[in-house]
Amino acid sequence: MTQPIDSRRPGWHRLSPAQRREALALDLDIPPSALDEALTHGGLSLEAADRMVEDVVGTLSLPFAVAPNFRIDGRDVLVPMVVEEASVVAAAAHAARMVRKGGGFRTLADPPITIGQIQIFCPDPEEAALRVLALREEALDLARGLDPTLVSLGGGPRDLEVRPFPAAPPEESFLVVHLLVDTRDAMGANAVNTMNEALAPFLADRVGGRIGLRILSNLADRRKVRVEARVPLEALQAPGFTPEEVRDGIVAASRFAERDPYRAATHNKGILNGTDAVVLATGNDWRAVEAGAHAYAARTGRYGPLCTWHRDGDDLQGVLEMPVQVGLVGGATRVHPGARLALRILGVTTAMELAAVAAATGMANNLTALRALATEGIQAGHMRLHRRSRDLEVP
Ligand code: MEV
Repeated sequence: MTQPIDSRRPGWHRLSPAQRREALALDLDIPPSALDEALTHGGLSLEAADRMVEDVVGTLSLPFAVAPNFRIDGRDVLVPMVVEEASVVAAAAHAARMVRKGGGFRTLADPPITIGQIQIFCPDPEEAALRVLALREEALDLARGLDPTLVSLGGGPRDLEVRPFPAAPPEESFLVVHLLVDTRDAMGANAVNTMNEALAPFLADRVGGRIGLRILSNLADRRKVRVEARVPLEALQAPGFTPEEVRDGIVAASRFAERDPYRAATHNKGILNGTDAVVLATGNDWRAVEAGAHAYAARTGRYGPLCTWHRDGDDLQGVLEMPVQVGLVGGATRVHPGARLALRILGVTTAMELAAVAAATGMANNLTALRALATEGIQAGHMRLHRRSRDLEVP
């Protein structure tokens, strides 16, 4: 974490982008030209783009916004959000203002444990599983030796788990070994995939099996974030509704998502509006976060909401739990000037802190969406903001 700031910005939405940049530069204690360099034309040169992916012909920019009002774990945070949809940033800022009246978001992030899957075809996976467990220490030692840098940073392989998949035709039977790796501030895909590929021949040889797939799992359920928020009754305002009606409407909307997967999908999309915008702003892999979120939402066999709201005394209390697989090092987080700036604005120093901010932002978006849906409806506010871009439309 870096220097304390005040994330409340009265009138922030009325400033011009240049004025917001000036204010940010003051906060971050950097020259405004540094912001200009990182953000003008999307911040990515054609040359850098051409090195990031293949067959490049250009770049495509999206709005980079900074949402005010967030207080997370007792610290004020300005939240960078990259998103194409009108009203998502305003919604996040609005909810953050409501939640800070109840003390702000409180988060608890798991250590950054990434799961690597090694599939081994073998006729008796139950027996192979026992053999792998007996090899546990030897295999972990071998894996540790594969990434001494990660180990020196306090990360590295932590455990092995076995998941036998017997099948009626024995040639379809396989064992899956989960290699659990603390990937510290990396998203983890590269570190884990490298370890998987190196460890697989050793394991397959010892159990007398044939190597199948070796890849991380995006059901990153060892890398969850739990967020709690309390909204005092008096902060629950909506024109034409009492605070009690707003609170009870949000609770009823949450129940709807708990009971109906069709609604839960849209409810979770609203959460991902916020979470993805932070993931994207920081140059992280939003498809990985999306895959993890939806798989986790379906973990019981029935798709459900990642965030729920209930009444606690007079107030509204929310809980969100979801995997957030993000990093601060590697990939676009290091090479994209806009992503580097986003990390600087956030002032986070670990992947766990970044995951917590992304999850809290998702919760904020969920709160505003449910408040609107349970009262005047979503379209009034949405269309008001959407109209601002209508005269830009290309015929
Ligand atoms: C729109 O981007 C998101 C919402 O549909 C979320 C929800 O319905 O909870 C408004």
